[in-house]
Amino acid sequence: MTRVPIRDCVEDPILIRNWFPVCPIDQLEDDTPLGLTVCDQSVVIWRSSGRLNAWKDQCAHRGAKLSLGKICGDRLQCPYHGWEYNESGACDLIPSDPNGRIPKRAKVLKVYRAVEHAGLIWVNLTDNAQDIQSLAEFDNRDYGVVAVGPFEIETSALRMCENFLDAAHIPFVHDGLLGNSAFAEIPQYDVNSSDQGVYTDNVVVSIPDHGNIDNMIEAEFTYGTISPITVYTARNSSGASITTQRKVLMLAVRPVTETSCCAYFSLAWHGQHNERILAEIIDFDVRVLMQDKPIVESQKPKRLPLGQSEIHVKSDALTSAYRRYIKNSGVTFGTE
Ligand code: FES
Ligand code: FE
Repeated sequence: MTRVPIRDCVEDPILIRNWFPVCPIDQLEDDTPLGLTVCDQSVVIWRSSGRLNAWKDQCAHRGAKLSLGKICGDRLQCPYHGWEYNESGACDLIPSDPNGRIPKRAKVLKVYRAVEHAGLIWVNLTDNAQDIQSLAEFDNRDYGVVAVGPFEIETSALRMCENFLDAAHIPFVHDGLLGNSAFAEIPQYDVNSSDQGVYTDNVVVSIPDHGNIDNMIEAEFTYGTISPITVYTARNSSGASITTQRKVLMLAVRPVTETSCCAYFSLAWHGQHNERILAEIIDFDVRVLMQDKPIVESQKPKRLPLGQSEIHVKSDALTSAYRRYIKNSGVTFGTE
């Protein structure tokens, strides 16, 4: 009989170093644990007295999902036999044997780091994670920040990020909303790429002036990567640097499997950031994302091809650089 190996760890030591978005901060209720999948791994997150906990979602006793259990004060109770784990991950109570000795190995299988940032909760699955990287706007009190998601997309996280960095699709996929197919040319632009990621600040795209599709104007955009699975864009105001932009849109993607993912938007907005304006902006960005979804889900292969199987033209300079960055970084999960 052939044994099928059970994947108990992520087989991509590079991708796993990154921080993964798990949900908007306001979606994690104080009294309910949340179970989710990060790169094929089950993770439970929950709050105890305001502290954020992230663990492998598997009870040490008989392997049930802890996320199906209950929060009892500062402990998480397994749904199967009621073992209770404290904030450090150690089992404090075995209800079927309340006066017995608690076995040394009765503790959660892995404790992960979790942080709140840019309106989202993020986890890291490694033992010695670097601090989360981001953009200044998301730490600037003059900016309002709102985050939404998850948006479940049936393709690799890398295909999803590449789509976000791809300006040439805007006139077609977003015809009438964000672009106009009669204005499809993307003038040459510069790309800076390094081991840390890719960046450009002079992509010119024709967009409708204040939503008026009959009045197209040329606008200049910045695009960049924060990590292989976190990318951003901002429209340039003339002569301004990225830190003086009024709006920065970040797409953070959590790989679920190699060919499926959950996407989140986080928007940093400078100026009058009342809730109505933020809701309108994010609503627009979500409509745009919903136009992308069927197209990226139709792409084959779903893993990002890093060889020469696809064709690259001048306007693909940024997405080609993104692929080289992914390849050079050594990321394999979600690539082929
Ligand atoms: Fe969790 Fe038994 S499986 S208490
Ligand atoms: Fe798009």
